[in-house]
Formats: sequence, structure tokens, C-alpha cells
Amino acid sequence: MAIWNLGSINADMVYTMSHLPVAGETLAANGLDQFLGGKGANMSVAAARAGSVVHHIGAIGPEGDWAVERLMEYGVDTRHIATLDLPTGHAIIAVDQAGENQIILFPGANRSIPADQVGQALSMAHAGDIVVLQNETNMQVETAKMAQALGLKVAYAAAPFEAEAVRLILPYLDLLFLNEVEAKQLQQATGKSADALGVADVIVTLGAKGARHYTSTSDEASEVAALPVTPIDTTGAGDTFTGYVLSGLDRGLPMPQAMGLAARAAALMVTRHGTADVIPDLKEVQNAHF
Ligand code: RIB
Repeated sequence: MAIWNLGSINADMVYTMSHLPVAGETLAANGLDQFLGGKGANMSVAAARAGSVVHHIGAIGPEGDWAVERLMEYGVDTRHIATLDLPTGHAIIAVDQAGENQIILFPGANRSIPADQVGQALSMAHAGDIVVLQNETNMQVETAKMAQALGLKVAYAAAPFEAEAVRLILPYLDLLFLNEVEAKQLQQATGKSADALGVADVIVTLGAKGARHYTSTSDEASEVAALPVTPIDTTGAGDTFTGYVLSGLDRGLPMPQAMGLAARAAALMVTRHGTADVIPDLKEVQNAHF
């Protein structure tokens, strides 16, 4: 099977800071590194490194070839990435000493992915493949609708969170990823808790407390524990978790095992500085000692 990811591609400018700047503050960074990023690209790399066939559907600007080359190098199929006459997306990321971040996003080409490109890509998918989307691109609902009609499984990571974006895509979802704050925000917006959204599988990530899985086939939620690590940089850890869960399911693992592997991958990821370029591969995840 395969994973089709309609996802963002960003240049991540990661600034190492003594603390996260507050409103009106001017603060010098202690360091700057550039990584391949974007929630979409991070998930594609995670799922590919976990062993899946991953097709990325997205867009870059004329100066974004380096990002496509890196995705290819990391094992992602890049044939469905368009080059548009718009700047490649980028993110300004501040990371503090506790590994927490603050992100300013410039969407650029990520919000102008051509509709026919998505159609062409999905015409090559097979029933049972997984389509994953996040909230950093255009074409989310159209893609989910098309994917559902083709018999694909539709997964959505509700980040960056917008209640209205989730509400619109909800009817087409088989699997929804939320963090704890997003789950609360969604409950405020819809009046429904995570287990009552009408989505077959909902995963709520709980940071250092692990993750919880609600499924329509059981009244009992199941949980996976987080692993004890000292965080260096939490950026991209959620994307790594999502990519690993999807890859596990794509490769036929039951949900608890897919989530267990994903928790290990995310734990390893928070001990690393950077985004897509430093996502661990399956061997590293399996061999890691916590
Ligand atoms: O989740 C982390 C990602 O969010 C970064 O890679 C950044 O590009 C933004 O999309």
C-alpha cells in the first residue's frame, strides 16, 4: 500500500534562543540553522523513514528545488510537487532552552497547489491507500472528498489548528490527529468530545503524557505512554509521531503497535535539533534505549 500526502513544504529557519520573545521584545538569537520542514514534508519524511512508500503532493517556488532534492534523497516520491511562480513556504522558528518553540509561518506556494495536480496524483492511488492532510495547504476538503470517493483512508492532522477547517473536513475522515489543546478547542467549537466526533479513529497526543486512541469499535480509549527523554527541540515531534502511526497502519500493524513505534520515534526526535532532516529511521527507532 502507499501513503499520499497533500502537504506543506517549508524552509525552516530555526533560531536558538535563551527564551521565547514576548510582545515588543528584541532578542538576539544564539544560533541559526536551516532545515527542510513544513508539517507535510516532515510527515512524508517520517513515513518514508518508517518504511512506507510515500507520494508527496505539494508545491514549491522557483527557488525551492533544494527541498524537492532533499525529499527525494529521503525516499519520498516527488513527482506530484509543482513548481509555481510564488515563493516557497518558510517558517521562522524560535526554540528555547527547554526545547519549546514559537513558529511564524509564511505559506507561499503551499496554499496554491493546483487542483488538477491533486486529481492526477490520486488517479494513481489504489483503494486502501492512505491520504493524509494537514492545515497548511489549500485543497484540503476537495482532496478528502476525492480520496473518500476513491476508497482511500483519509487521515487529518488538525495543525495549525482552526476549528472551522476541522469542521469542514470532518465528514470525510477515517482518522483524526489532535493534541490535547486542539481537542479542547474542537470540543468548545462543536460541543463534541474527541470520541463523539463520528470519526472512526481519533488520536489525541498528550505531550509528555503520551497519546490516547479513541475508536468506534470500542467504548474504552487506549493509551500509549511517552518515553522519558530530556527535550532539546520539540519542533516536528508531532509530525514524526503522525508519520510513524500512518506508516505502521500502512504496513499492517495494529493501532497499539503503530502508536508504540510512533511514541519511540517522537521521543527520539525531541532529543534532536531540527526538523525533517533529522527525523529518525525505523532502525534507529527500534534500537533506541530510553
Ligand atoms: O510542526 C513543525 C513544522 O511546522 C515546521 O517544520 C514548520 O515548517 C511548520 O510547518
